[in-house]
Amino acid sequence: MSVHIEAKAGEVADKILLPGDPLRAKFIAENFLEDAVCYNNVRGMLGYTGTYKGERVSVQGTGMGMPSAGIYAQELIQSYGVKKLVRVGTCGALSKDVHVRDLVIAQSAVTSSSMVAKHFPGFHFPPIADFELLQKAYTVAKEKEFTTHVGNVLSEDTFYKDDLDPTFRLAEYGVLGVEMEAAILYYLGAKFNVQALAIMTVSDHMITGEETTAEERQNTFKDMMYVGLETVIA
Ligand code: HPA
Repeated sequence: MSVHIEAKAGEVADKILLPGDPLRAKFIAENFLEDAVCYNNVRGMLGYTGTYKGERVSVQGTGMGMPSAGIYAQELIQSYGVKKLVRVGTCGALSKDVHVRDLVIAQSAVTSSSMVAKHFPGFHFPPIADFELLQKAYTVAKEKEFTTHVGNVLSEDTFYKDDLDPTFRLAEYGVLGVEMEAAILYYLGAKFNVQALAIMTVSDHMITGEETTAEERQNTFKDMMYVGLETVIA
């Protein structure tokens, strides 16, 4: 057991998908994994272990935002020995070249959060993806002809902002989209020398206001699940 996960030793696979929404963890377990068993229901933050193409894989909800996602990721790494972590989530598009339903693979994550900066006084540590996972995810997505972008994303602490100017300025520097978890995942990957990647489907557009329907979100979510699972078992 760890503080927020009630799984016993050995119940969590060393490869894991991390959706923010715990009900998405349930969806993945029920639709993509065989023989899935629920190992966590503490705070309703569901976690399951099953098999995908014969490989043991877990899927764990993380909640929204870096404080929550950081807790689950760190406990999974430190207490359960997880070695490959792939976030599967959503982001708001910032680039005009990125559209709703596209896939965004975060090569790196710029962040305004103190959660990374506080550990490196005087430095700006760049949280970056694991290259092997990144390359695999990109290859799988391209093979399936999913519209996919690779680049920087913005990991924010706040979903609602008083002033969007700094966010839009980052778009001018090629930042593809905004979400709330990748930077802490990449920081923890570096801290514990494990592999981490964040893949997002674009759910809305911060500049054009494009949005997806619930059904479209579900379908593109399935495409992302496929990419995430193929990546994590590689
Ligand atoms: N910010 C804005 N739009 C979004 C986000 C976010 O963190 N996630 C999904 N759409």
